[in-house]
Amino acid sequence: MNKYPSKDPVLVTCGLPYASGEMHIGHLRTYVPADVFVRLLKKMQTEVVFICGSDTHGTPVVTTAEKLGVTPKEVYEKYHKHYLETFPRLGIGFDTNSTTNDPENRHRTRQLVSTLQENGHIYAKDLESPFCDQCGRSLPDRFVRGKCPHCGADARGDECDQGCGRYLEPGEILNPRCAICDSPTRPVTREHYYFKLSAFEDFLKDFLTNMDGTKNARNYALGWVKEGLRDWCITRDLNWGFKFPGDENLTLYVWVDAPIGYMSGTEIWSKKIGKPKEWEKYWKPGNGRLVHYIGQDIVYHHCIFWPAMLKGSGYNLPDAVVASGMLKIEGHNFSRGRGYVVWIKEDYLDKGLDPDYLRYFMVSGTSQTKDLDFSWQSLADKVNNELVATFGNFIYRGLHFTKKHFGEVPKGELDPNLRKEIEKTIETIISATNEYELKKVSDAILRLASVGNEYFQANAPWKLVKADKDKAGVVLYNAIALTKALAVFIEPIMPTVAERIWSQLGLEGSKVHEVPLEEALKLPKVGAKLGKPIPVISKIDDKVLADLKESISKRVKAAEAAERGETEVEEELVSFDDFKRMDIRAGKILEATKVPKTKKLLKLEVDFGSEVRVIITGLADQYKPEDLKGLTALFLTNLEPKKIGGIESKGMILAVEKADEPGRWIPVTIEGVPPGSKAA
Ligand code: 2FM
Ligand code: ZN
Repeated sequence: MNKYPSKDPVLVTCGLPYASGEMHIGHLRTYVPADVFVRLLKKMQTEVVFICGSDTHGTPVVTTAEKLGVTPKEVYEKYHKHYLETFPRLGIGFDTNSTTNDPENRHRTRQLVSTLQENGHIYAKDLESPFCDQCGRSLPDRFVRGKCPHCGADARGDECDQGCGRYLEPGEILNPRCAICDSPTRPVTREHYYFKLSAFEDFLKDFLTNMDGTKNARNYALGWVKEGLRDWCITRDLNWGFKFPGDENLTLYVWVDAPIGYMSGTEIWSKKIGKPKEWEKYWKPGNGRLVHYIGQDIVYHHCIFWPAMLKGSGYNLPDAVVASGMLKIEGHNFSRGRGYVVWIKEDYLDKGLDPDYLRYFMVSGTSQTKDLDFSWQSLADKVNNELVATFGNFIYRGLHFTKKHFGEVPKGELDPNLRKEIEKTIETIISATNEYELKKVSDAILRLASVGNEYFQANAPWKLVKADKDKAGVVLYNAIALTKALAVFIEPIMPTVAERIWSQLGLEGSKVHEVPLEEALKLPKVGAKLGKPIPVISKIDDKVLADLKESISKRVKAAEAAERGETEVEEELVSFDDFKRMDIRAGKILEATKVPKTKKLLKLEVDFGSEVRVIITGLADQYKPEDLKGLTALFLTNLEPKKIGGIESKGMILAVEKADEPGRWIPVTIEGVPPGSKAA
């Protein structure tokens, strides 16, 4: 039986992006289908709220802050702002987009964790976890790398990100090494707090068996529960995040307060609309339905941790978890490091590309649960061969021809076969929404556009208009009726394209994103004036496509070159202003010492006249400390500070690679100038 349209209100959430980097195309694999789903529910007149926010805690934010030499707060504020600006540019319209560091989330997290404590679901236990002597700190989560104990792949401290995808408990990773300085670690023992996840096995089996959503979420999670669940360590030795209510020296694991952000985000929305209790409709047991859209990599967190937390604290349980397959780039696993990435702002929106094309690609590319392979060529194929050739072509031909010969909607009646086709499309859209399979929605719309093309071709109004203008009018009336239906149907996927069609139909009195699906069957008003016909979709031409393709290949080449230790791939011209921004000075190396437990690092203490700075170089495999001590060399002194081998380095020595001996670097030394002298 169909759940949607639903009499009960629905709350849709999207996995909260870590506010530690810009939005990339992988993110859209979740956010676009979720936004389309929400718009479809609105078209079915179902009450729906759409919640997202930024995930501001945890080691992703802390490691980024350390790399940039700024505070975690500065990092999350910068990237939260980026998300706030970028989502609307993609037509993704959340009812609220808060952060997990907001006071509402602090309060709700404290309340929920305290309730779990009161209900006896949390206990203390000693935990042995890795410590780095070199960096002088504990290594939670992404601060440690090693081997996955389940599949042997390289893994992060809390996640087998390169292999089986399993969640890893602290202390569980094999051969741990510090992710910052690569030193081996030593185990230290301290008391941590555990959530009694094992006690929820029976509940979870039952819950997951009945949980709606996609099969991948349900089946993976059921498999893990059947293997047996271990208790979950919910505290970390990390100085960023919310304190654990029972021991202020410990911080809550980010995966405790992150999903609570869905709840506090709903509270923030409630306050915003002036109904402070409205959030309870969704989160307190009752009729409200929770639907979580997530990536397949976080099924464990949403189908195991999260329902157990909600159950243990007496809140409503998710009705559905919809997990998307992962996104590949040109057949390769998504990887920022290897250059297989497309940045939404820089590579797409700022180039003036239409966001609706990307929305269509995300939805129509493949089934929700399969991996989707993105390439600029496949995007162009979709736009040029499907959207322009089938959809846009039908709409433009009908509108253009009608405007030219009639200027308004001519007299006519809807052909019963076309009515059936529109009705069939509505049924498919509803059933596909119920299956969370939105590709079936876009396929059905394209099919209807093909029916339109066939109808237009078969009835040849360009011939009829000469022989029998009234008959031609009837054909065009049907083309207009079909165009209107197509605008209604396409709006959830391509909202701006739908608006363009709507205004050409002269329907500005209503809003295409507000009308229900049934509006598709309401006949166009005879005599209504038509707007100026312009193509609603434009081709991606070959020149643009070639430039877009190059953006990926350039990045991949640069990543490969960086891997080989080369810094520049090709000669690029630098403006004089850019050059002037570089502060290159002579510095005298007062001391040089090896950085312990590293192979290549040397710590230099360099005199620049007004100050002595620590600068780390990677030359220890080629020079002994005494070779460098006493030399005066050139240094780039306004490079952003960076921790290398656990030590902050404030600059970089300039060196020349010998052309006849690649990999051999000679420092650029200079004589006869006092320390601090500036090069230009
Ligand atoms: O994996 C991630 O990117 C997490 N930031 C998702 C969090 S989803 C929710 F639980 F907040
Ligand atoms: Zn693994």
